[in-house]
Amino acid sequence: MTKRTPFLRWAGGKRWIAARIGPLLRPLIRGRYIEPFLGSGALFFELCPDRAILGDLNRDLIGVFLQVRDRAAEIEEALRHIPVSVEVYSEMRESRPSDDFTRAVRFIYLNRTCYGGLYRTNRGGTFNVPYGGGSRTPEAVYRDHLLIQAAGALAGTGIEIRHADFQVLVDCSGPGDVLFCDPTYRSAGRGRFDRYGPDVFSWEDQQRLATAAREAKSRGAVVVIMNIDDPDVRALYDDAALIIGLARKKAIGNPVKDDSWHREVIAVFSDETPRDWASLVCAGNQNRQGEEAVSLIATAI
Ligand SMILES: C[S@@+](CC[C@H](N)C(=O)[O-])C[C@H]1O[C@@H](n2cnc3c(N)ncnc32)[C@H](O)[C@@H]1O
Repeated sequence: MTKRTPFLRWAGGKRWIAARIGPLLRPLIRGRYIEPFLGSGALFFELCPDRAILGDLNRDLIGVFLQVRDRAAEIEEALRHIPVSVEVYSEMRESRPSDDFTRAVRFIYLNRTCYGGLYRTNRGGTFNVPYGGGSRTPEAVYRDHLLIQAAGALAGTGIEIRHADFQVLVDCSGPGDVLFCDPTYRSAGRGRFDRYGPDVFSWEDQQRLATAAREAKSRGAVVVIMNIDDPDVRALYDDAALIIGLARKKAIGNPVKDDSWHREVIAVFSDETPRDWASLVCAGNQNRQGEEAVSLIATAI
């Protein structure tokens, strides 16, 4: 199936690298594609596999994916009739719809109009991101039929969508399955936790993921994990078949001297990792207009 455009904006989303990683993963998938930290599902929509298990701990997010799968056209029509303004945004943010359909419309509207496409809640689980406006309004969703496109990828009988902790999905993997794990990143190694909602993703969770990944690999699965590049994370994955360090920036600069470069790693657990991964990830990175969008340097360790 041809690739689709993710319908959500998502902090930490992998839209920027999906077109690089997708072709590397596709030939390795002999069983199911498993994505336990779904977010906007950038890699899933890049691959559009026939058999997949998609999961996330964010119950509202999973509710949206289920509604998009089942009622994409109706959601697009509902979005078409909601004006984009700070007043309407505030009303939507305060609203507490009780049915799944209206909750999904609200979620997508807020996601497309909030500041930076962030999903952030207070400790009570209430969405609290301010209005952003900007260019990625809900209009793009119905104008380009992103939900109907997404539904085409989600509706197959081989696609399972689950509200679950990542470990449930990782533990059910077996021979021939490929897992793409994109957890909440370690928070800069300063002992602070990172979170999307009320649930923290602690260092113990990072360790739990590393252990589950090793076990999945020993059952015959391929596991690809992304995270921030810091010494603790590298130590956590020091037995991976391959670690690729990425440095990226939206402007030209010196990655060695300049702190504004984002440094991330890709750890690959597999018996048969192609050694050309780093060069492929590194090879250019263009935006939709074909211009160099981010500078990306990848190094295999
Ligand atoms: C970095 S985002 C994933 C972004 C995604 N790859 C994309 O392209 O949009 C991390 C996701 O992990 C989810 N998450 C956090 N803790 C989790 C857990 N224990 N189990 C499963 N999902 C979790 C968050 O809700 C968030 O959607």
